[in-house]
Amino acid sequence: MASQSGFPSSYDPSKYYDPEIQTVREPARTIFEEYSKIPNERIANHINEVVRLCGIDPLPMYRSIQILELDLHRMSIYPEILERVKFGDKFLDLGCALGQELRHLVHDGAPSTNLYGCDLTPDLINVGYDLFNDHATLQSQLSSPTYSTTSLI
Ligand SMILES: C[S@@+](CC[C@H](N)C(=O)[O-])C[C@H]1O[C@@H](n2cnc3c(N)ncnc32)[C@H](O)[C@@H]1O
Repeated sequence: MASQSGFPSSYDPSKYYDPEIQTVREPARTIFEEYSKIPNERIANHINEVVRLCGIDPLPMYRSIQILELDLHRMSIYPEILERVKFGDKFLDLGCALGQELRHLVHDGAPSTNLYGCDLTPDLINVGYDLFNDHATLQSQLSSPTYSTTSLI
């Protein structure tokens, strides 16, 4: 029988993914420390605690924690994105998952009001607020799509 994740219920993701984060690599580490105000020595524990308490099917959650490896800043267009949102353009991260790329942009000086995120999995968006500790501060609009959810990116 298939589980909610679409894998057979006998599939145990913990055999393939380490459920505990030991270290967080840059630039995510700096974002947790400077943007989320979590002391360096608490970052890994904080992430593990949020994941443990969130109650999400572990497989997509492990994958999402892996994607705390940030990518957008590696693209040559990143400085232009940053400059444009600082001057009022809007940026949409379609398939934003935890919203980590949006937090990176805010940490680098983007006004969060110019950033938008959308993901099929609303739980990931919600966990993102707990992970990045910004329920009260992030002013980006993050939502799940109202279009057909059968079309995967
Ligand atoms: C591989 S993850 C990438 C997350 C992030 N953008 C990154 O680069 O690390 C793909 C994400 O896209 C979301 N997704 C897939 N199809 C989508 C759709 N049609 N609309 C919105 N989100 C979608 C999934 O829920 C998942 O969180």
